[in-house]
Amino acid sequence: MYEWWKKAVVYEIYCKSFCDSNGDGIGDLGGVISKLPVLKELGIDCIWFTPIYTSPQVDNGYDVADYQNIHKDYGTLEDLRRLVDLAHGMGIRIIMDMVLNHSSDEHFWFRESRKSKDNPYRNYYIWQPPKADGSEPNNWGNRFRDGNGSAWEFDPQTGEYYLHQYAVKMPDLNWEYEPLRQEIYRMLRWWLDFGIDGFRLDVFTRFKKPAGFPDTDKAPDLLLDRNGYILDSSMCTCVEGIHEFLHEMYTEVFGPSGCFTVGEGTGINAENALSYIAPERGEVSTVYHFTLASRKQPPFTTEKYRRIQQAWADLIPQGGWPVQYLSNHDSARQVSRYGDERYRVPSAKLLAALTLTAPGTPFLYQGEEIGMVDVHYDSIEDHNCCYTVGDYHAMVASGTAPQEALRILAPKSRDNARTPYQWDGSPHAGFTTGKPWLKVNPVYPQINLEADRASEDSIFAFYQKAIRLHREQPAILEGDLRFIWEDHPQLIAYLRRCEKQTVLVIANKSSEPAAAVLPEEIAQKKWTLLLENLPQACTLLEKTEWQPWECCIYEME
Ligand code: NOJ
Repeated sequence: MYEWWKKAVVYEIYCKSFCDSNGDGIGDLGGVISKLPVLKELGIDCIWFTPIYTSPQVDNGYDVADYQNIHKDYGTLEDLRRLVDLAHGMGIRIIMDMVLNHSSDEHFWFRESRKSKDNPYRNYYIWQPPKADGSEPNNWGNRFRDGNGSAWEFDPQTGEYYLHQYAVKMPDLNWEYEPLRQEIYRMLRWWLDFGIDGFRLDVFTRFKKPAGFPDTDKAPDLLLDRNGYILDSSMCTCVEGIHEFLHEMYTEVFGPSGCFTVGEGTGINAENALSYIAPERGEVSTVYHFTLASRKQPPFTTEKYRRIQQAWADLIPQGGWPVQYLSNHDSARQVSRYGDERYRVPSAKLLAALTLTAPGTPFLYQGEEIGMVDVHYDSIEDHNCCYTVGDYHAMVASGTAPQEALRILAPKSRDNARTPYQWDGSPHAGFTTGKPWLKVNPVYPQINLEADRASEDSIFAFYQKAIRLHREQPAILEGDLRFIWEDHPQLIAYLRRCEKQTVLVIANKSSEPAAAVLPEEIAQKKWTLLLENLPQACTLLEKTEWQPWECCIYEME
């Protein structure tokens, strides 16, 4: 009844920053192979690789130049073959990140497409003539450009503009063109034949563009670019007609193979999710949504946590299945953003407990299992994330002092998640023997896997236990979700109930003690402690106060 991916714990690997096996300062497949045993010990079931294909690395691989080859710095297809076989032998599945909204401009398709208006690949991309005055086809803006700017780029070779929702070197693919779609489906089947177990679909709600490419007059969602382009990313998100593309891809590839698919759900919320994920729709298995953990919104409150989780959990009886995560390669480190670095260890564990006991499939991000924290670079030169660099230059150009711009942008920078993995206390945190492509977080002598595992208070060990609970406790997989203390500003507490079992999770998501009186229905029962992140001085029934970042998981006897 439960497909494998509903029971799995997924672990996201950002290959470039994971482990370097050849000393060139860049993580690679050999590095991942060497760490498979640690991942097995952690207890994960599936690896999601962010893009590892051949790429000029303008967006660290989300700019794909060849979908059927491995980026030279990461290794070869043979290395991946070995990795997949080894992982499968350990019971670990592999899903690949598929970037199908855009490619690199160095992809063969685009190199052909730009040559002439009658090139057979011309319609693989979105070309539009200039307006009468020579300007861009519309006012859509783009945050990926250094200093921001238009989402259109003029190509003198044919005198037309091409659309790029992301970097200039990342032209959008034209999903309206059937031969392109068929080429994509062939490529996806090739990967399934290779032996991978599924796909994460990058920005999959953006494949369909509004007909006629109208100007946007919506309120800008972030900022009005200094040249007047409107940075309104919703223009191309969830546009009518997107479902036809997704259903076709399902019918051609995902359905017949039965593979797992998780769409990156920009624009998707609990209200519209079923139209993408309900099994009878035939689109994707689930979506990785941004309604709880979003870079663009303030960190969630306990009220928001309850509201969002309940809304997604309520989709389960209707055939939906949520995902759980708090950070990824595009976000800040979860302990810095949602926890408290002053309470790093308990808050990292509390966040793990939430992710691993809430309904749905947990997606962990490399480094959270050792409580990695945000990096504080003091120069823009150290940054790599194109949003951070682009926004920085836009802000400085419009008069913000450089240090102030950095102070504002740094907490949101994607580089926080991308600093190299901290394996041990040796130079560069044991990530590489060379010069790392992105500076290692200077806190690595204190925060690293080796030190964590040697500590009595190990976060890694807590993750192991919480992952085991996730796997073994039926209520965590099957149970419904019901919150208690529904208006408590600090405590997040919920019951997971199924026929076989009831589990109770209580978490003080704050840096202050939290007081509460157990509701009758809890106080009348007997509870066994399954896992805690701080030593317990009394039993649940005696408890009236929870320490900062304290979290306990109980089972009803
Ligand atoms: C979403 C990815 O997660 C992000 O890293 C990337 O920059 C954009 N899509 C563009 O592919």
